[in-house]
Amino acid sequence: MIRAIVLAAGKGTRMRSARPKVLHDICGRPMLWYVVRALRSAGIDEIVVVISQELREEIEAFGVESVVQEPQLGTGHAARIALEHLPVREGGRIVVACGDMPLVTEEIFADLRRALDADNGTAMALITATMPISSNFGRVVRDGDAIERIVEVRDASPEQRRITETNAGIYAFDEAALRDAVGHLTTNNAQKEYYLTDTVAHFVERGKRVKPVPAAEPLHVLGINDRVELAQARREMNARLCAQHMRDGVTIIDPLTAYLEPELEIGRDTVIYPNTSIGRLSRVGQNCVLGPNSTLSNAMLGDRVTVRESVVLDSNVGDDCSIGPYAHLRAQTELASRVHVGNFVEIKKSQLGSRVKVSHLSYVGDAEIGENTNIGAGTITCNYDGKQKNRTVIGRNVAIGSNTSLVAPVRVGDDALTGAGSVVTRDVGDGERVAGNPARPLPKKVLDQRA
Ligand code: UD1
Ligand code: MG
Repeated sequence: MIRAIVLAAGKGTRMRSARPKVLHDICGRPMLWYVVRALRSAGIDEIVVVISQELREEIEAFGVESVVQEPQLGTGHAARIALEHLPVREGGRIVVACGDMPLVTEEIFADLRRALDADNGTAMALITATMPISSNFGRVVRDGDAIERIVEVRDASPEQRRITETNAGIYAFDEAALRDAVGHLTTNNAQKEYYLTDTVAHFVERGKRVKPVPAAEPLHVLGINDRVELAQARREMNARLCAQHMRDGVTIIDPLTAYLEPELEIGRDTVIYPNTSIGRLSRVGQNCVLGPNSTLSNAMLGDRVTVRESVVLDSNVGDDCSIGPYAHLRAQTELASRVHVGNFVEIKKSQLGSRVKVSHLSYVGDAEIGENTNIGAGTITCNYDGKQKNRTVIGRNVAIGSNTSLVAPVRVGDDALTGAGSVVTRDVGDGERVAGNPARPLPKKVLDQRA
């Protein structure tokens, strides 16, 4: 049985933030989320995260166990606190990872497990990465082929600092060996901390095997310490997300300016133009055209939907709809199929039937509009009376004239018509035609002239 300890109690001072480091966002998820996901993908489900006091509430969302480390006396101390929390398991194995390595992959954890299990008597396997000399990662000191110990940069001699093989901070341990080793750690070093990395020398001195596992790609073990590295990780994560969707049949014109999140569904042959963000569990059908310059968040789109230069938040859009340019849908708006929403239109908390057109300069809020109805340019639902929001209900096949104000609560029946500039303050019956301020039924003469 294999369990994981994730170290996430550190202060993250270099982020210069009131927010704990591991909660900083990368492509719509806290960085810790990615580490937990990679562990689970590698089949490691029992996870305990070592946290600081301030993370206590937010950690609940991750569905993991946690233990508070207070005060924080170093990585070795953090591991010891976690081990005290975990019941002893005969023949157990423990993976240790850092909460600030969002680019870590399940393959890295799988490689570690394999190295640890390859032969009996291996106490530890660790990921090493060849980094530029300027890296702050601990240096891997070797004696011939064998690892001798890890030296932190601050404790390293000038020659040791020149070593480019570094410790990524991701390990797999034989549980009994780890429990024994953390009991022997001291704070005899430059930072006066308990270093988990000192377990290496502890094992080597006792004739136990420590296996280095070189990381295939150093970027995957990038530890985030400041916002420059945060941006680097975000770029890489976004590139991965884009690549995955492109391989699944989505065209992305420029992956550097298409901003995706994990857990999206995007159908085949959909095209994403530049400067477009898609987030929060959105689902997009096939053959859609999204962007440029658009934002979708928690948006459910059918097939063949076009969203140009527009914003769609928390809304459902049926097949063959076209939205934009410069439209804004929000708050559980629902469009049936073939709806057209055009320039400078805001639609909030409304349901629009099939083939409804709201083409220009309108506000539709708290409304229901029946199929085939046309909403003229500049129509406003006056949904707020200063105290509360009121509903506007418009029937099927209605012609709402340009610049109509619908003073809610109000109903307009099927096949009705409002003249340009109407201020509708009372319900309009089926087939009725009204105009004026306040809107009144049109005299028969006017209707005859029109006919
Ligand atoms: C550590 C390693 C270093 C390695 C590097 C990789 C040690 C002594 N050094 O250094 O060899 O190259 O990681 O990133 O382990 N943490 C706690 N409690 C603590 C201290 C730290 O939970 O008391 C957590 C941090 O939140 C972080 C992780 O442990 O996620 C690593 O701690 P950090 O202080 O960043 O260690 P480094 O100096 O980077
Ligand atoms: Mg670090």
